[in-house]
Amino acid sequence: MSNPAPASSAPAGAPVSQAIKDGGAIEPVREILWGTSAGARKYETAEELPDDMAKLIVRLMTVQADTEFASIQQHRPWLDRAPTLEDRWIESRIVADEARHGLQACRILRDFGEPGQRLIDELLTKREGEHKLDAFNLPFDRWSDVGAFTCFVDRVGVYQLRAFQECAYGPLARAMPLMLSEEQLHLNFGYNVLRRMAQHGAAYAGSKEEAQAAILKWYPRALDMFGHSNSETSRKAINFGLKRWTNEEARERYIREVTPLVAAMGLELPPPEFDRRVL
Ligand SMILES: [Fe+2]
Ligand SMILES: [Fe+2]
Repeated sequence: MSNPAPASSAPAGAPVSQAIKDGGAIEPVREILWGTSAGARKYETAEELPDDMAKLIVRLMTVQADTEFASIQQHRPWLDRAPTLEDRWIESRIVADEARHGLQACRILRDFGEPGQRLIDELLTKREGEHKLDAFNLPFDRWSDVGAFTCFVDRVGVYQLRAFQECAYGPLARAMPLMLSEEQLHLNFGYNVLRRMAQHGAAYAGSKEEAQAAILKWYPRALDMFGHSNSETSRKAINFGLKRWTNEEARERYIREVTPLVAAMGLELPPPEFDRRVL
């Protein structure tokens, strides 16, 4: 499916930035942009959601929050072990950002009352190794793990969040822009860690071989994160106007994005079927 056009108060075809320069306001999008209820008003409270849709949002937000809290556990040992002062500062920023993303996902869960609160309480008890997705149960043993995780796994996170942009549930749609801008910092950082390793080797904090090995470790786990290709749930999410793409469409877009990035570092991606667990 094609991307829905963003709505604003700008005249058709004019960039949003022009509308702001002209003193105009950017109107929030109030209508459902895709799926079986396209054109209807967005849902704004948990109470108005149809049952099936409410269950799916709860499930998606539980996984979302779980990944945010898990990544804090993975990054934590590197807060004071990252190779440079700047790297340590960015590590601490990433941890703060992921905590805030977890909080945002939990705020959405909270709107579902007692059952939502129970899920939050449960999420907060999860330890390393107990998380839902494999990518979040692997420790960062080396600095190259931090680079490859933020470059590849956070980038999948960006695709998941972009799939929710301007979705049919207002509170979820409105949480996206800030989360997306923060995730962009994380994946740029990851890319730069791997690039510096590949280009400067021991003068930075590793070697080209180490960066390549980290790609082989994390890229398959990142591709798995998109979920099964024939997922009924992802089709449902599109019909509800919650997600823009099927799992397979999102995975293909992702592969198209990372292929030239990895080549530009002088490194290689394994084939998409290499070491995969979720197909
Ligand atoms: Fe995050
Ligand atoms: Fe992140």
